[in-house]
Amino acid sequence: MKILVTGGCGYIGSHTCVELLDAGYEVVIVDNLSNSKKDVVKKIEKITGKEVTFYEKDVCDKKALEKIFEEQKIDAVIHFAGFKAVGESVNKPLMYYRNNLDSTLTLLEVMSKHNCKKIVFSSSATVYGNPEKLPITEDFPLHTTNPYGSTKLMIEMILNDLYISDKDWSIAILRYFNPIGAHKSGLIGENPNGIPNNLMPYIVKVANKELKELSIFGNDYNTKDGTGVRDYIHVVDLAKGHIKAIEKVIKDKGVDTYNLGTGNGYSVLEIVNTFKKVNGVDVPYKIVERRKGDIDACYASTEKANRLLNWKAELEIDEMCKDSYNFVKHNK
Ligand code: NAD
Ligand code: UFG
Repeated sequence: MKILVTGGCGYIGSHTCVELLDAGYEVVIVDNLSNSKKDVVKKIEKITGKEVTFYEKDVCDKKALEKIFEEQKIDAVIHFAGFKAVGESVNKPLMYYRNNLDSTLTLLEVMSKHNCKKIVFSSSATVYGNPEKLPITEDFPLHTTNPYGSTKLMIEMILNDLYISDKDWSIAILRYFNPIGAHKSGLIGENPNGIPNNLMPYIVKVANKELKELSIFGNDYNTKDGTGVRDYIHVVDLAKGHIKAIEKVIKDKGVDTYNLGTGNGYSVLEIVNTFKKVNGVDVPYKIVERRKGDIDACYASTEKANRLLNWKAELEIDEMCKDSYNFVKHNK
């Protein structure tokens, strides 16, 4: 079975390629390297001892995509390619709508033409907005608060409409919670340019003395210690969820949506303290104002993914903190 992975050089894509290869799939990556580096392909090959076919192309480039589908007999697609920074999407909405929607529409048109109708799509828990209760189940009302989130919701709608029009499609929409951690090898992981927006990349840079201190955005939330609570999931567990989703779309037609999280909520302070403990490093921090748009707490019900995908996250928060730091130590 040959899987086309769009955005396969990125953070979640690269870990998923490793799991696909380990599970015996052939992997073809298409990535324009707008937020990743080409050497990731070699690293995936080093970890797995298997070869990857790589196309440095933009998924919005229909001709290039047509050529890939002509050259390769693709059985199914995992679609990661897209921009993902919430704050940037507020400042550059057109760039986000153009890239995320155009890449998806182009991909779906080319897939249709080549009668390849099996796709796994990266959505996000951001589509739940500020949930009224917890844990979040897949049938909760959907509401977005920024252009990035809106692209995810629009793509979910496009995929649902596509299935209504053509029942030959098999579609799995995966709503990720907060992926952190890295592959044990320390070869692949998350390494954002500049000052990170997300919690774990920021903590890691503080621990590494590249940044002075962490700013914790508010300690007056309605949570156990006042700091924001999220459902952090190890990226390797998340990658394994994609293997289950691919198995499902290969087997069954239909469109379905699944939360991929652990079902556990951890506060910012719990993450900081765990990180310090397991890595034996200091992480100085100060409490500052709340960040606009942040919510008190967010964690998944994972019951549907457990039941229908036969998938469950296994790695604990200690492991997530250890592996995040291990990657940065390897890549100083
Ligand atoms: P990433 O930026 O590390 O990976 C995305 C990859 O897509 C990059 O390698 C980038 O170069 C590539 N890309 C972007 N636009 C492209 C285009 N038009 N053509 C070809 N390649 C293109 O991001 P990630 O964290 O691995 O996220 C993967 C997917 O999961 C994204 O769709 C993201 O929105 C979604 N997601 C991520 C998170 C998270 O916290 N990381 C949470 C929820 C959902
Ligand atoms: N936080 C800090 N200081 C920082 C960064 C974050 O205190 O420097 C706090 C936030 O206030 C929040 C928690 O850490 O309480 C997590 O924040 P992140 O920015 O790491 O993650 P978010 O939950 O805000 O958002 C992430 C992605 C979104 C995605 C969402 C759900 O950035 O794209 O998870 O999957 F939609």
